[in-house]
Amino acid sequence: MNKNNETINAMASRYSCRSFTDQMPSDDILNAIAQAAVTAPSGMNRQQWRVVVVKNKQLIADMETEGINNLAALPDKSSYKRIMSRGGRLFYNAPCMIVIPIAPTVPPGAELFDCGIVAEQIALAATSLDVNSLICGLVCFSFAGNRRKEFNDKLSFPEGYEIGIAVLLGYATESGKPHEPDLSKIWFVE
Ligand SMILES: Cc1cc2nc3c(=O)[nH]c(=O)nc-3n(C[C@H](O)[C@H](O)[C@H](O)COP(=O)(O)O)c2cc1C
Repeated sequence: MNKNNETINAMASRYSCRSFTDQMPSDDILNAIAQAAVTAPSGMNRQQWRVVVVKNKQLIADMETEGINNLAALPDKSSYKRIMSRGGRLFYNAPCMIVIPIAPTVPPGAELFDCGIVAEQIALAATSLDVNSLICGLVCFSFAGNRRKEFNDKLSFPEGYEIGIAVLLGYATESGKPHEPDLSKIWFVE
């Protein structure tokens, strides 16, 4: 069933890439992914997100350094240690990152659902265009210290918007595998 369905195949083949080459996806491809992002549904169609395609290598490097410094300063070192054990990179050399800032909603927290859906649409559109991706929640640590306003400004966040999540994009140094889906998490009630 559905073996030839492109959308379901993209979902099944997406995986988190943690090692990118320097190759930048073309602007055509990045535009297609960004345009897929803004087709995302949102509660009451509020669309209280933005889709910021970042290709600036220096900015990505600065955000990475700041994020790692902020992670290192946390009393709980578990996330920092995890990153260090994976090679000390928060953004895994990704040449491009789509940052999704969000604004608070009523009811509070609903914006997180909205931005999660945008992130997944980006990841799936990327997969379908043979671009690797990683949804990156730890990007929040780039904005957790003194450089928050600087980065908000450099990324042109509108007034009242804060970092939601980011998706790293590029091409994997070596191909990876999607996680094994756990079918025991599904049941039908009839
Ligand atoms: C909301 C969210 C945030 C995530 N943040 C990070 C992150 O900051 N760094 C990272 O390496 N992986 C991150 N991931 C990737 C997950 O670790 C990954 O999706 C999970 O291990 C399953 O692997 P798969 O994506 O290859 O199927 C995030 C995933 C989600 C959905």
